[in-house]
Amino acid sequence: MNDHHIKTVLSESREFPPPEAFQSRAHIQSMEAYETLWKASCDDPERFWGEQAKNLLHWQEDFTQVLDWKAPYARWFDGGKLNVSENCLDRHLDKLGDKPAIIWEGEPGDKATYTYRELHQAVCRCANALSDMGIQAGDTVSLYMPMIPELAIAVLACARIGAIHSVVFAGFSAEALAERNRDASAKLVITADALWRRGNELALKDTVDEALRIYDKVDKVLVVRRTGRSINWDSGRDHWWHDTVEKANADHKAQGFPSEQALFILYTSGSTGKPKGILHTSAGYLLGTTLSSRYIFDLKDDDVYWCTADVGWITGHSYVVYGPLSNGATIFMYEGAPDFPHQGRFWELIERYKISIFYTAPTAIRAFMKWGEDAIEPFDLSSLRLLGTVGEPINPEAWMWFRETIGKDKCPIVDTWWQTETGSIMISPLPGATPTVPGTATKPFFGIQPDIVDQDGQSLADNQGGYLVIRKPWPSMLRTIHGDSERYEKTYWSHFKSLYFTGDGARRDEKGNFWIMGRIDDVLNVAGHRLSTMEIESALVSHPHVAEAAVVGKADDVKGQAIACFVTLHDHELGDPALNQSLKDHVVQHIGALARPETIIFTKALPKTRSGKIMRRLLRDVAAGEEAQGDMTTLEDSSILEDLKESSA
Ligand code: PRX
Repeated sequence: MNDHHIKTVLSESREFPPPEAFQSRAHIQSMEAYETLWKASCDDPERFWGEQAKNLLHWQEDFTQVLDWKAPYARWFDGGKLNVSENCLDRHLDKLGDKPAIIWEGEPGDKATYTYRELHQAVCRCANALSDMGIQAGDTVSLYMPMIPELAIAVLACARIGAIHSVVFAGFSAEALAERNRDASAKLVITADALWRRGNELALKDTVDEALRIYDKVDKVLVVRRTGRSINWDSGRDHWWHDTVEKANADHKAQGFPSEQALFILYTSGSTGKPKGILHTSAGYLLGTTLSSRYIFDLKDDDVYWCTADVGWITGHSYVVYGPLSNGATIFMYEGAPDFPHQGRFWELIERYKISIFYTAPTAIRAFMKWGEDAIEPFDLSSLRLLGTVGEPINPEAWMWFRETIGKDKCPIVDTWWQTETGSIMISPLPGATPTVPGTATKPFFGIQPDIVDQDGQSLADNQGGYLVIRKPWPSMLRTIHGDSERYEKTYWSHFKSLYFTGDGARRDEKGNFWIMGRIDDVLNVAGHRLSTMEIESALVSHPHVAEAAVVGKADDVKGQAIACFVTLHDHELGDPALNQSLKDHVVQHIGALARPETIIFTKALPKTRSGKIMRRLLRDVAAGEEAQGDMTTLEDSSILEDLKESSA
């Protein structure tokens, strides 16, 4: 666990009740209301979830059973049928047909708005085009796309025809895309010629071409023209979006699919080298995202809601697309980087579109702090009424800065804890009810029963650090790891009998607030992105000069963690700056730019125990420039420590 967080959070005593102006309009206005509802939801979860499912979702056929739990496998709402896309679109058309569903701006400043009616038509066209291309319910479609409206359209079109989408963040490499296409048996890839990033074109179609050379069982590629750059074209395989989707019929009847119809696979890092394909299904996931969006973002008819996450991550799935649209909200989507063409870009967008809810990541907030207030000052942020954060523990300084400088002391902050696996937010304040404290995600959401346990699975007393678990199944939980149920059982359900293990360490204070300390496994959180140390190590050892590699996290002011690599070479003499650079590029080529190591340290040997295990704890101290702490007696060769210090100096 990260000691730094434990120390900072323990000293925090500031508490902020919900601002009155916010509270008086909120869906839930008091802690009593929250507690009564939460208690009822946990006393009889099946009743609670059954009622919510009936109230919040549109069913084509009613379910006959709320939960079938054969641990650790859950089936929710069996017997029921619904269409996820119909829930996000068709059911709003009567009342909200002319309301903007998506307001979008591209990095160069181009703009588009889709009303619910227009979005519905675009999704229907895309659904018809996908069917015409031979995609059927249960097939997997891989999406490797910019943050443009077509991404949301493609996601919803897959859902509409019962196809499984696998969105791969456009920063991943060709190899990473190929690996995911292979694992998911993708039949079709949807992409764009390129995307705009800080004024440059990132050539997505070229990367897709390369990925398809590595794994060639993908039949077709559908390409959105975004930047207009020239691309290679395989006329037997490639199709333009504007020739197919935009010319397709806009009538499409949404068929109902069983509640447990697979909705998507989303890959995330675990503690081994191979990414995990987290599988989510339809009705339960939709219920979790719909309910949490409504209460945690306190969505109202006139809100303009902006979640800055890319749809390539779970936050983009749940809180750019499904949750807000299922609630009939107006979402704002932006293609580019926060600091291009200037460091006030986000604030300019908030002013222009009168954004009222702004949900972002601590790493972004720390970057904004660094860029300074001059970048913010010219813009009018008075439309904001609610702020949110997700992805990593937020340090109290960043929380206070967000509250004061962006929220002008009048916007509640919801620090939301959850994971790709949980599908929707598990722990968070309710903004009109919960007193917030910088650094804590506060209380469990309705129907969710988290706990802190020791290594034997026993509940711990207040303020004792331990393992964060969830006691009862919930509708938006992952159903399995695609193609690897054994890993699903082992990763999440084998540590403690019948408790879901999150992989995070946490403590609960005497007021019932949860303080998340971070991952306790070999997973790094770099700028809010999950990366496995093993994944980076295997990329490094695939380089012909590398003999062994060990990767650890190193504290970073903006990214939270940065990647530090210790590498031994077949020929130690080769360890020069040129090789250092080419190893960094090698990792980027294998995984993607998000995994670029910050430091590579060549060393003659790695510190190991007598049984041959790498002593990462020691490497973490060396990477941090600190004196190595703790027991060294198991170190096989104590001279290695001196070598390491020299190499990293
Ligand atoms: O360690 C926790 C951290 O991010 C992990 C989940 O990562 P991922 O599946 O990529 O999903 C990120 C977005 C939901 C968690 O195990 N994490 C996420 N939110 C928070 C957090 N840590 C502390 N506070 C949070 N609010």
